[in-house]
Amino acid sequence: MSIPHEVKRRRTFAIISHPDAGKTTLTEKLLLFAGAIQIAGSVKARKASRHAASDWMEIEKQRGISVASSVMQMEYRDTVINLLDTPGHQDFSEDTYRVLTAVDAALMVIDAANGVEPQTERLLAVCRARNTPIITFINKLDREVQEPLDLIAEIESHLGMDAVPFSWPVGMARHFGGVFNIREDRMRVFRPGQERRQGDDEFIDGLGNPEAARRFGDAYAKAQEEIELITEASAPFDHEAFLAGRQTPVFFGSAINNFGVQEVLDALVELAPPPGPRNALERVVQPEEPKFTGVVFKVQANMDPAHRDRVAFVRVSSGRFERGMRLRVARTGKDIRPNNVVSFLSQRRELLDEAYAGDIIGIPNHGVLQLGDVLTEGETLRFTGLPFFAPELFQAVEVKDPLRTKQLRTGLTQLGEEGAIQVFRPEMGGALLLGAVGQLQFEVVAHRLKTEYGVDARLMPSRYSLARWITAEDPKALRKFMDANAAHIAYDVVDAAAFLATSPAQLRVAQELYPGVSFHAMREHG
Ligand code: G4P
Repeated sequence: MSIPHEVKRRRTFAIISHPDAGKTTLTEKLLLFAGAIQIAGSVKARKASRHAASDWMEIEKQRGISVASSVMQMEYRDTVINLLDTPGHQDFSEDTYRVLTAVDAALMVIDAANGVEPQTERLLAVCRARNTPIITFINKLDREVQEPLDLIAEIESHLGMDAVPFSWPVGMARHFGGVFNIREDRMRVFRPGQERRQGDDEFIDGLGNPEAARRFGDAYAKAQEEIELITEASAPFDHEAFLAGRQTPVFFGSAINNFGVQEVLDALVELAPPPGPRNALERVVQPEEPKFTGVVFKVQANMDPAHRDRVAFVRVSSGRFERGMRLRVARTGKDIRPNNVVSFLSQRRELLDEAYAGDIIGIPNHGVLQLGDVLTEGETLRFTGLPFFAPELFQAVEVKDPLRTKQLRTGLTQLGEEGAIQVFRPEMGGALLLGAVGQLQFEVVAHRLKTEYGVDARLMPSRYSLARWITAEDPKALRKFMDANAAHIAYDVVDAAAFLATSPAQLRVAQELYPGVSFHAMREHG
């Protein structure tokens, strides 16, 4: 098949939610409805021990497992869907942000009882910054939940975009009768249970159908009123506005009961965009170009610490990838010829023969590939947009045995490149500082330093509580600021300068005193 044809039939999206909203359940049901798995339960099993996640041994185990399960590919209605899971544990949210740079759309799962929760908000901020189109699924209508009108209002205020309901719930909890598909003007009647698949649903046609009114009574009258209200009051769905991240289509359902899943799957095929152009510093890369390009958006250490092998997750940006082809790492100019590349088909790691824009390939390597690396057939390209977030927790790190200082540096550099932690070198010298978004990152890093690099590291509290990368139009203004605040300046792995503050007040003062300096909570790679 031609490259343009393959590009057009691909949909690559991330599934995001606050923990417990039903992301895993919905993922599994999507795979089930697309025919990629036969029985429910296989995705679920992998997060069985989630509640023990504060234990780093668990994290160790999960790291290995999640390589295989964090990308899933399925084929549905002649469309290749790449579904990227985002780590559930909040301490690993940095990884999640980067996953969002590799997708063309996001599916947001909301627990109808809780509405938009804090963890979803940060992810949404990243989607918004990139104008990522978002499809919304409101889950758990089989429970006592918030009023649908309130949920719509909440989504609009948190997302800063219009919410356009495509379906509407009839009742909830014990009185949940089903969802009314507004566009198709028919109601899908709810039947609990996990056995049902597509094809054996009951429908009642027409909003004014007396049969629905008779069967579902007050709940139906209320839904009917709300649907009339919402179709009058809200803007009609505008596909362009959705693609630009200004509107989100909203679906209601109950993932555990296989209910409302079909609508979401169809929306992914019909509404979500195929892979688009990607910006590089040098030029814009079109997905249909004949030559292969791709970018490493995630690096995951593999199971066997002794071998230190890692899997680099590459999002294909253009061209056709074929097994055994020679690829240039644009940063180093070195060539690699990956043979044992893996694709991710419904959680089994399978040997991959070809891949196109939108697909994710995994390249096992021993450290030649870093976060943000660009792979090409020879061209020098740097893609923009891989975000690093200002850490919110800091610890100073020292090695117990001074003779192992070099190993400590090597280990921290590699872990920093992998994105496991951020490493800062203070301008005034002294111990290196580790910056993290979540506390657990420190534990994992200390453990990995020991097992993978033979370094007994001592982590000590640090007085800093926030960091901002600093830039200025006028280099002299930046120098003046850095000289005056030398004790608070540090450099990250790519030597970008950051200001470390002990409190938000200290940051505010610095901002007021030096209006010519910009303080950034996010740094883009490249
Ligand atoms: P997550 O990946 O977003 O963290 O959520 P997950 O799918 O694990 O779902 C969290 C909990 O919500 C699970 O219950 C799951 O069964 C339940 N759930 C998911 N969808 C629905 C739904 O439509 N209705 C209802 N009532 N519950 C739903 P759990 O008790 O934490 O786990 P389990 O014992 O069921 O495995």
